[in-house]
Amino acid sequence: MIAKTTIDTVFETARVEEVIGDFVQLKRAGSNFKGLSPFSDERSPSFMVSPVKQIWKDFSSGKGGNVVAFLMEHEHFTYPEAIRYLAKKYNIEIEETEQSQEEKAEANEKESMYLVSEFAKRYFHDILLNNEEGQAIGYSYFKERGFTNETIKKFELGYSPDTWDALTKEALGKGYNLDYLEKTGLTIVKEDKQFDRFKGRVMFPIQSMSGRTLGFGGRILGNDKKAAKYMNSPESDIYHKSKVLYGIFHAKQSIAKQDNCYLVEGYTDVIQFHQAGIENVVASSGTALTPDQIRLVNRLTKNITVLFDGDAAGLRASIRGIDLILEEGMNVKVCTFPQGEDPDSFARKNSYDELVRYLDANAKDFIQFKASLLMDESQNDPVKKASLIRDMVTSISKIPDRIQREIYLQETARTMDISEQVLVNTLAQLIQKDVADTGKKQKQEQKEKAFEVVKNENPEQARRIDVLYELERKIIEILLLYGNMTEEFEDVILRANAEGEIEEATEKKEYKVYQRIYLSLQEDEVELANPLFRDIYNDMVNYFHQNESFNTEHYLMHLAPELAQEVTDILMYEEREVLHNWEGQNIIVKQKDQTVGQYVSETILTLRWYLVDRIIEELKGSITSGPDSDNTETLSMAMDYYKLINSFSSKLGRVMSRYS
Ligand code: CTP
Ligand code: MN
Repeated sequence: MIAKTTIDTVFETARVEEVIGDFVQLKRAGSNFKGLSPFSDERSPSFMVSPVKQIWKDFSSGKGGNVVAFLMEHEHFTYPEAIRYLAKKYNIEIEETEQSQEEKAEANEKESMYLVSEFAKRYFHDILLNNEEGQAIGYSYFKERGFTNETIKKFELGYSPDTWDALTKEALGKGYNLDYLEKTGLTIVKEDKQFDRFKGRVMFPIQSMSGRTLGFGGRILGNDKKAAKYMNSPESDIYHKSKVLYGIFHAKQSIAKQDNCYLVEGYTDVIQFHQAGIENVVASSGTALTPDQIRLVNRLTKNITVLFDGDAAGLRASIRGIDLILEEGMNVKVCTFPQGEDPDSFARKNSYDELVRYLDANAKDFIQFKASLLMDESQNDPVKKASLIRDMVTSISKIPDRIQREIYLQETARTMDISEQVLVNTLAQLIQKDVADTGKKQKQEQKEKAFEVVKNENPEQARRIDVLYELERKIIEILLLYGNMTEEFEDVILRANAEGEIEEATEKKEYKVYQRIYLSLQEDEVELANPLFRDIYNDMVNYFHQNESFNTEHYLMHLAPELAQEVTDILMYEEREVLHNWEGQNIIVKQKDQTVGQYVSETILTLRWYLVDRIIEELKGSITSGPDSDNTETLSMAMDYYKLINSFSSKLGRVMSRYS
């Protein structure tokens, strides 16, 4: 068996667009990629890949799924074969194991660490918004920095009270285990004493690409030059600093859409940019960028723009790290800010238009930027200039694309005023050293296979629009898109009025969308009719019960392939324009001014109507005729169901045509 850790690493590393790109020629289309279906003969592309969702969909054959599903379809691999193929492609060592008791425990332990981190995030955020100290100190600090309420909520910023163990006490009281508080670094345990790591600090939760809370940065409030400004969560089983970029969760859509990623240093730079209207921005959190971090961005775009603070001091050192980005085959630009400004202060002082204009005007190609920067430094010093040439050529040698390398050599020769031949020779020497790189050879072999086309023999049969089918599918879509949202719903309750008579009244109550759906369907004791949707539905409800947050990428990873295929389908249809003529089918379309809650209620009611209608049909079918047949029970059940349908009609405020 392949170890779970290996499979996780494979999923974390593999990029669906890259893997598919080895077989299908893909072109960017908005935040997606488009290509000709490898499963059918077609002239206009109907094959789509979503780098953000990490899924693909072939609209001509109806197939779709995640990266593994593609390899299983296209290469006819088994699941383990697909994992092994990906591991090889990305040079991931495969760990083989029979999962022991111990390993199972470890998986549970990580899950518990996520839970307690999630709790702490909510706790800090709640203190900031609702507690007196939190408001007076934390909230007003963020206000002073110019953060709006909306921004504070979006990034779930928080405040940790200035007491010894506020969080620890609260968490223990809520039944969280001290072990996990310690393992996530939230609590420091010394002998029999426990105290909070973060005290009297404003808190920045750090999230994974898929939105899970991994750790925190906590900032002191003043500008005390002696104290360390930030305290961060320590490395843990769930928080690996070198693999995380602050802001990636909130930035990923925009990075893919804009096809560019701004890289800044600090938490506040990211937040201020968002507030200014630029969302494709992440922070390295003050340290040098790591290859893992670059790969995170590379999943979404090939273009990165590094933003530097106004002070030139750190520039030279920071520039070294950029070779790593080139090595990943990314296009790098750099942009500096005026003396004394950093992205945070600059974004705060300028309007969105000014900011965009500034970035467009001042972002320079990295190689050119570096050449002119170093030229200024070495001026007429020949020794410096020689080392500078090597430095430049080293950067250029990192670029995987040969043609691009050549263009850069020409430009650099011009900028530095030396012959191109000198650069070419230096480059040749450097590349010799790199020849043993086997990863690249492997890539070449895959490219050669790129255009093998597999024909698909079973094109999806044109499906008659079946209202029940579409409604059930809509329910799954709602769960996927809004399942974890909290919304207000109307409940009908019975209560005694002033005269002591029982009467019906409506009451507004908050539910999570998935809970509302679950409870409503349970009320009629009905199940979804379509077996596949039923399985997905049950699986998702379970998932919501067990997990605090929902994200499709994480969810899909754990889903059985047949179900995953259907879920991808639904997600990808959402990308396309509305395909179905909902109005014509008497199915509700979400109106712009309708809340999610109202939309959900209407969809559930309509679905319940159809499901109950189906039961009535079945009951009718089971009515027997004959001398000694007794149908009274069946008929009375049918009557009850008719009444139910009438109540749906009145709640929906429209007449159900078949029963009017
Ligand atoms: N950082 C850190 N520990 C420190 C200083 C900095 O971890 N003692 C990290 C933080 O992630 C910080 C980033 O480095 O966001 C950049 O540092 P800096 O620019 O000093 O912080 P800002 O986020 O800009 O904070 P502020 O504007 O509040 O000073
Ligand atoms: Mn700053």
